[in-house]
Amino acid sequence: MIEKVRKIGVLTSGGDAPGMNAAIRAVTRSCAYYNIECIGIYRGYQGLIEGEFELLTARSVRNIINKGGTFLKSARSKEFRTKEGRAKAYENLKKAAVDALVVIGGDGTFTGAIYLQQEHGIPVVGIPGTIDNDINGTDYTIGYDTALNTVVDAIDKIRDTASSHDRLFLIEVMGRDAGDIALNAGIGAGAEEILIPEEDMGIDRMMESLRKSRQSGKTSSIIVVAEGEKSGKNIFELAEFIGENLTDYDIRVSVLGHIQRGGAPSCYDRVLASKLGVGAVEAIMRGESGVMVGITNKLVTSVDFSVAIEGSKPLDKELRRVLNITTI
Ligand code: F6P
Repeated sequence: MIEKVRKIGVLTSGGDAPGMNAAIRAVTRSCAYYNIECIGIYRGYQGLIEGEFELLTARSVRNIINKGGTFLKSARSKEFRTKEGRAKAYENLKKAAVDALVVIGGDGTFTGAIYLQQEHGIPVVGIPGTIDNDINGTDYTIGYDTALNTVVDAIDKIRDTASSHDRLFLIEVMGRDAGDIALNAGIGAGAEEILIPEEDMGIDRMMESLRKSRQSGKTSSIIVVAEGEKSGKNIFELAEFIGENLTDYDIRVSVLGHIQRGGAPSCYDRVLASKLGVGAVEAIMRGESGVMVGITNKLVTSVDFSVAIEGSKPLDKELRRVLNITTI
């Protein structure tokens, strides 16, 4: 344990998420509040290797709580995955006399942190920042709420045109391994079908449900498809398959893509980021290391990195039941 924390480094890594700026702001201002120097590290672990450091004061982070993206920039560093890369990163931290690190990102970011800490003994505390909400030990990740609202807004707009033309739309949303965005935004936007990576619901079942919804008088429909869903077909192949088998459907595909990662963070994400930023600095001051600060029942809690990245987060099964009832 460090006797007195004098300097904390902060970086954002992996896919960016709305609210990361608010988290950097909260880390920086907590440092200022507790008389700790704060060092911003650009471009995630790559900037750590290349020594792209800048002193951050309380004023450096003015007017960023409302901005999407991350002003420290982000990267997925290949070099940091090597022992040599991490050794270079540690040398730079030592040279700058950084006592501990706050890393904001997802499971890849925390995996890197585990290695850095094990190999070089530097204390690291993580903050979950990813639109995917796929981290264990926290009810929500920073950026998820904003992404949900972006997706719902986009689907609402697509529904207008789907309804005008009596069309079936397949809409792809992000989530390679996690269906949280698809399931929650899908229910929120009234989608008829939702395909997610965590379960293979079977194409036959989906075709049957589309047949039934036509018979029940539905003229337009929305199917939300998470990137990593398990049918074995990509969204265009799925559309083709449906079109070949249900010839009365006029089908279109829309891939929402990186629009889901941008935009001003929602109020929820700003508050969450502020709580976790303060929580991360206070965790370091208490001597914690190798943990992620997350939110559980509104409380800031610490969980070991190994728990945070372990397997996949359990799916909220109740949502599937709610979907089945509400799409009748
Ligand atoms: O992890 C966040 C995420 O947006 C995933 O949902 C998506 O699969 C991935 O990142 C895309 O990554 P990239 O921007 O590197 O293509």
